[in-house]
Amino acid sequence: MSDNESTSRKRIFSGMQPSGEAHLGNYLGALRRWVKMQDEHDCIWCIVDQHAITAGGDPAELPGHVLDLAISYLAVGLDPEKAIIFVQSDVPEHTELAWLFNAVTPIGDLERMTQFKDKSQRFDSIPAGILNYPILQAADILLYKAEGVPVGEDQKQHLEMTRDVARKFNATYGETFPITDPMIEKGVGRIMGLDGEAKMSKSLGNTVPVLADEDEVWARVRTAVTDPQRVRKSDPGRPEVCNVYSLHGFFTDEETRADIATQCRAGEIGCVDCKRILSDNIVEAFAPFRERAAEYHAKPELVREILDDGARRAREIATETITEVRQRMGLDWRSSIG
Ligand code: TYM
Repeated sequence: MSDNESTSRKRIFSGMQPSGEAHLGNYLGALRRWVKMQDEHDCIWCIVDQHAITAGGDPAELPGHVLDLAISYLAVGLDPEKAIIFVQSDVPEHTELAWLFNAVTPIGDLERMTQFKDKSQRFDSIPAGILNYPILQAADILLYKAEGVPVGEDQKQHLEMTRDVARKFNATYGETFPITDPMIEKGVGRIMGLDGEAKMSKSLGNTVPVLADEDEVWARVRTAVTDPQRVRKSDPGRPEVCNVYSLHGFFTDEETRADIATQCRAGEIGCVDCKRILSDNIVEAFAPFRERAAEYHAKPELVREILDDGARRAREIATETITEVRQRMGLDWRSSIG
């Protein structure tokens, strides 16, 4: 996190792909901080459906996923009174700016992105959208001239690319964009999945959804991988290598954690009991979110109004930037007539 984050009011932008409800990694790595930032900064929270289509997926499911993510946003405390909340495809200037940024982005830079290398392996014929994905992300951010972007660790390279795009654009066409600060919080930038092997990620099925009910949270948490050296309950465990123990750090009070660590090392508490405590604490921490989500699920038209209003407000800013960019790039031919 940058040092001056709390000292001056900044424009902040961030987004999430609509691949269903948000999970614990999204919450701890991003959403939790977004909620706090709304009081200190001018924040814009986006649902990036145009990024989501690069992953393929069933078009019939996408509208429902957008609604679910919007409800997750609102349920965890993103507040349309304090911030702009909207869907990317409602503001067509995102794709226009992405196209214009193609003019200043070397293909080599795009091909070097680790996410591109990973994702492209899944295709025989690689869609251009996967290569150009970071350009659209740069456009999302710079369309609002955002100074800060709170994200998890996995977005670092894309944000470096955003900074490069801004620098190149400014150097070629004149000072236009800020050099955005990637706000990655230490300790939560990469929450591990329940498998204890990979980053928590919807596509790997190793998540705990933020809005899951008690049974679902337990069904997930009980499958979590613990210290692999521990076979029987009486075997001494090593909390320092256990992912379940590290998740306790976010949900369980210090005293209980210290007890669990002592008992685990002495082989006095089993992994199932330890997971049960974690599961109960997650359920309790997220109970207010589930309640709020139920209210929004009952009133989807209210969510639509919030997103419509968000898109309108986002577009006011977007139109200003795109007009300036068109002029800088000579895409205002009428000016030659006077
Ligand atoms: P996405 O949708 O994969 O993830 C949304 C946010 O959640 C964070 N995150 C995590 N943080 C910690 N631990 C985890 N296991 C974990 N999993 C996810 C991500 O870092 C991210 O902050 N390309 C972006 C979406 C995007 C965007 C943008 C973000 C499009 N345009 C502009 C910021 C600004 C993505 O796929 O995030």
